[in-house]
Amino acid sequence: MTERVTANLFRTRLDEVAAATETTLDTLLSPLVRPGEIERPARLLEAMRYSSLGGGKRLRPFLVVESARLFGAEGEGVLRAAAALEMVHCYSLVHDDLPAMDDDDLRRGRPTAHKAFDEASAILAGDGLLTYAFDVLADGATHKDATVRADLVLGLARAAGLGGMVGGQALDLEAEKATAPHQPQAIMTLQAMKTGALLLYAVEAGARIGGADADQRAALVKYGRALGACFQVADDILDAEGDEAALGKRAGKDAGRNKATLVSALGLDAARERRDMLAIDAIEALEEGGFGEKAAVLAEAARFTAARRS
Ligand code: IPE
Ligand code: IPE
Ligand code: MG
Ligand code: MG
Ligand code: MG
Repeated sequence: MTERVTANLFRTRLDEVAAATETTLDTLLSPLVRPGEIERPARLLEAMRYSSLGGGKRLRPFLVVESARLFGAEGEGVLRAAAALEMVHCYSLVHDDLPAMDDDDLRRGRPTAHKAFDEASAILAGDGLLTYAFDVLADGATHKDATVRADLVLGLARAAGLGGMVGGQALDLEAEKATAPHQPQAIMTLQAMKTGALLLYAVEAGARIGGADADQRAALVKYGRALGACFQVADDILDAEGDEAALGKRAGKDAGRNKATLVSALGLDAARERRDMLAIDAIEALEEGGFGEKAAVLAEAARFTAARRS
């Protein structure tokens, strides 16, 4: 495939997955009360819908769907797993933007959840999305095999929690207060946690649903780790470059808050080099995995992650 064809295919697939994720989230977040629930409070539901519908690149759902597709798995169950992961991601953004954390007022081109609603609603909307994600994964509609469902639940809990995203967010906030320069190794660890863990989980979930063998899974893990690292360096570079209109969020804030980023530790040029190398590492991992042309869109996702403007 030529580069242009692959790039177009990636765009089409990303758009398709984004639309399917939107539909799945919209259905899950309907006012319809599910068995075991008592009521769905209208304002909380509205805040959860505001925080998860109508925006975002939907890269994590894309990675779940496309990794599962490598092994021929597709359909409603895969989309439910993808939507569950996106719920956790959206919750992480809502809480990340709170005054007690990054204190931001713009997200996905709109006021952040605590600005559009209020802080308590934003906290609860995040809590609601986080909890709902595990409900969705544990439900029989996600996979017929209960062992696979349990693995998906366990994997997301580990990726999102203390030793993953939440732990990384804690390190990120702690680092703001550091007086000594941030060390690149420590930055890479905190970024692997706060951002990398959920991106890695995306491909691991796809591999689990698709029934990857040990070598295929190892290759996807290598890809996911490199892509996750690439993604956050790119995010830090975009913050420094400062195109708020394209980003749909505030830019130029990391330096003022003493955020631990590779831009602050290495400078912009070295951070760009690191970003591009990580994308190459991700693509090489796919080649080592022997997926061939089937993995072309995942390779393109790595190029997109490094080159993106939003
Ligand atoms: C932003 O993630 C937060 C980070 C982990 C850096 P995305 O850039 O994927 O945000 P959306 O989902 O497209 O809005
Ligand atoms: C956020 O990193 C990572 C998570 C939400 C877990 P950032 O704080 O850099 O993300 P943005 O720049 O606000 O999207
Ligand atoms: Mg943050
Ligand atoms: Mg932030
Ligand atoms: Mg950022």
